[in-house]
Amino acid sequence: MTDHAAPTDHAPTSSTRLADRFPPGFVWGAATAAYQIEGAAAEDGRAPSIWDTFSRVPGRVHAGDTGDVATDHYHRYREDVALMAELGLGAYRFSIAWARVRPTGSGPANAAGLDFYDRLVDELLAHGVDPYATLYHWDLPQALQDAGGWGARDTSARFADYARLVAARLGDRVRDWTTLNEPWCSAFLGHGSGVHAPGATDQELSLRANHHLLLAHGLGVAALRAELPAGHRIGITLNPAAVRPLSDRPADLDAVRRVDGLANRIHLGPLLRGEYPADVLRDTASVTDWAFVRDGDLAEIARPIDVLGVNYYTPLLVGGAEDDGTGTARAAGLRDDGHGASGYSPWPACADVRFAQVPGERTAMGWGVDPSGLYDVLSRLRAEAPGLPLMVTENGAAYEDRMDPTGAIEDVERTAYIAAHVAAVGRAVDDGVDVRGYFVWSLLDNFEWAYGYTKRFGIVHVDFATGRRTPKRSARWYAAVIAGNRVPE
Ligand code: NOJ
Repeated sequence: MTDHAAPTDHAPTSSTRLADRFPPGFVWGAATAAYQIEGAAAEDGRAPSIWDTFSRVPGRVHAGDTGDVATDHYHRYREDVALMAELGLGAYRFSIAWARVRPTGSGPANAAGLDFYDRLVDELLAHGVDPYATLYHWDLPQALQDAGGWGARDTSARFADYARLVAARLGDRVRDWTTLNEPWCSAFLGHGSGVHAPGATDQELSLRANHHLLLAHGLGVAALRAELPAGHRIGITLNPAAVRPLSDRPADLDAVRRVDGLANRIHLGPLLRGEYPADVLRDTASVTDWAFVRDGDLAEIARPIDVLGVNYYTPLLVGGAEDDGTGTARAAGLRDDGHGASGYSPWPACADVRFAQVPGERTAMGWGVDPSGLYDVLSRLRAEAPGLPLMVTENGAAYEDRMDPTGAIEDVERTAYIAAHVAAVGRAVDDGVDVRGYFVWSLLDNFEWAYGYTKRFGIVHVDFATGRRTPKRSARWYAAVIAGNRVPE
């Protein structure tokens, strides 16, 4: 491994690299999100969020599951922090439920809600685990949705107020802050394909929501800077996609350009350069006139950040319209873009793009396993955002876990998935990419959004009937990685 403070440019050559150590100070963590683990949905003044509403609509979430109880982390956080300490985690990435600390989104703060995060942060620090706080992981207060949600510009300003409120309370102890988690999902799964809350299927609205999310991020950065002491770190977490073509046919390469525009450059352009890519504006002109972008917005969105968070699970494999043999291109429509099916595409103005199954091994989500995609994404970001530190804020996998008669869960596949992806991060670091840390998704089995409790991503098993936690083999393996700051041979 190269020295963390002074990355060099040497090419990856050594096959013994995995035996090498990660840079000193490399952050090893685990991540969760409020709605997926907390439960206590109506306790201590928490008001409903869009996910409480959405999960109650029949047919939206598998088996009618909700986050009402989830892993009951709200009551069991001490046990969970003790587990983190046992595993040796250096950091814990969690999200704050906006509707817990400011129930109506814009009205008075809820002291009891803030108290919970205060206790959690103190517990983490007492166990030597650094808190990484994410302000928005998809759970908009329902009251703000009723006022227009992310379709309304005012929601961005409300987010900044909320960010400031939380920073004022936790900023003395939390150094690492993330504004938004995966705004792509909030915008396009929430308002395009409708598989996430609030469940809208309106392409114009999805692009508007995406802009207002980015604006919320920019206003949020300003609010956090005003409140936090110097030296605290502020970032955003994206889910940048490694977009691959089905072939080198021009139509397939053009599909890559378009999907890359909507998956990646629609965020990276505004965030890093203060501009939307011209081809994205052109490609979507049939859907929106972009009048929701006002003077000054892009400068706001491009405020400097200290770190870019990367969530990575699987690449995207895309192609253009199929040639039906008569010389006319035929739109095959959406096959499988890995984000769940609703009959509506999350990709605006992409009806003629085909999404294919990534060949080879798949996880229980049906997502193809390809660690080189993580390497590619990290390398690309280094090129696009030179000097901006990166952090892998999520990576992990759902598999069908089986508890053996002794009560052990030998999740060999998950362990292999994480090992291969950690190794890909190691290769990127070796190549001089400034990756500061890795957070496994997830600490605990939890509420996997529209899939309810059927998909288990945890390195710690949760018995949802009793709440009992059982570390899986992957957790023990990860503890060894952390202890040695290297992937064990
Ligand atoms: C990314 C999201 O941030 C997280 O909430 C989700 O559970 C994982 N992906 C797995 O789908």
